[in-house]
Amino acid sequence: MNTTVRNHAGMRKRAYRNRETVLLTPGPLTTSAKTKDAQLRDYGSRDHAFMAMTADIIARLNAVVHGGDTHVCVPMQGSGTFAVEAAVGTLLPKSGHALVCINGEYGRRIATICDVIGRRRTVLETPEDQPITPALVEEALAADISLTHVIIVHCETSTGILNPLEEIAAIVARHQRGLIVDAMSSFGALAIDARKTRFDAVIAASGKCLEGVPGMGFAIMRRAALEQCRNNCHSLALDLYDQWAAYERSDQWRFTPPTTVVAALAKAIEQFHTEGGVAGRSARYRSNCAILIDGMEKLGFVSFLPRPFQAPIITTWHAPADINYNFNEFYERVRARGFTLYPGKLMQVETFRIGCIGAIADTAAEMRIGRLRPAA
Ligand SMILES: Cc1ncc(COP(=O)(O)O)c(C=O)c1O
Repeated sequence: MNTTVRNHAGMRKRAYRNRETVLLTPGPLTTSAKTKDAQLRDYGSRDHAFMAMTADIIARLNAVVHGGDTHVCVPMQGSGTFAVEAAVGTLLPKSGHALVCINGEYGRRIATICDVIGRRRTVLETPEDQPITPALVEEALAADISLTHVIIVHCETSTGILNPLEEIAAIVARHQRGLIVDAMSSFGALAIDARKTRFDAVIAASGKCLEGVPGMGFAIMRRAALEQCRNNCHSLALDLYDQWAAYERSDQWRFTPPTTVVAALAKAIEQFHTEGGVAGRSARYRSNCAILIDGMEKLGFVSFLPRPFQAPIITTWHAPADINYNFNEFYERVRARGFTLYPGKLMQVETFRIGCIGAIADTAAEMRIGRLRPAA
């Protein structure tokens, strides 16, 4: 028994020491040893300890956006997209009509979700390096009274661009339409305040800025909006109304919960509070982002986004035009130095993305990439 415990402890230590790479990506991301350790215990879904943990994270997630009694947090098993699809399918009635704001891949994915689940949608699209403006949303809503909801991505992770949520929310509220926000890569790092910003749902997941492990999403939902959503959903498993109602009745997840993911998230949220909540996390990410951008620009790399539009989550860089550059080799060489980059996700230009600082300078020199500027 003792030997087993010692072996496990030794293996853990070795695993941390030889940790494969630091993930400079927007999730899954590198988690702390405490968060990893929290997954080493098994829980039954009816264990009191597990039920208490679920109740605690639900309350704490709601509190991150100051949701209070007017809002509820509804967790959803699966990756972030499951929670987005669940929120869209639950909040949009079959007769609904969504204005889907698009300036990147995740906005496009929401339009696809609407198509797949049979919800009418109209697209409002800006170039990938330009935010969605409040004026454009205003114009679209004024032009079409059949629109019932606006769906927007807060930080569009495919570039790192920040969309002006508060201003857009104010316009949507003035037009008395619903607002669904994909805050997957901003929740916990950029302030969202439900007391000032009216929304029907803000959606995020465990393995992003809260720095848990991937495996569950959640939606912070305006209670009055959710209460209207019985029988809206196209799906049994993704019905957030049912998920919420079942939890209210039983204090339990409706279907098998991702127990270890919940345990890791509970530990991650503890550390989030120790760091100073949204303000603390935001300060660290802003500092990382500033250091990263300054360093990359000094090296000669060119940012895809103008600085004022850059959220401090992930940065996008033009691929160098130099003939010696190719992403796969660059990726492998940075990885060999212990850091994992992220490929670009843009339609028109070749890019790569970095979520934090990395061994970029050494790698560029080693590959003899002299000219870091992109093709004209
Ligand atoms: C803004 C945004 N929306 C949705 C998703 C989809 O989440 P997942 O890949 O976990 O399904 C992501 C993932 O990074 C994201 O950044």
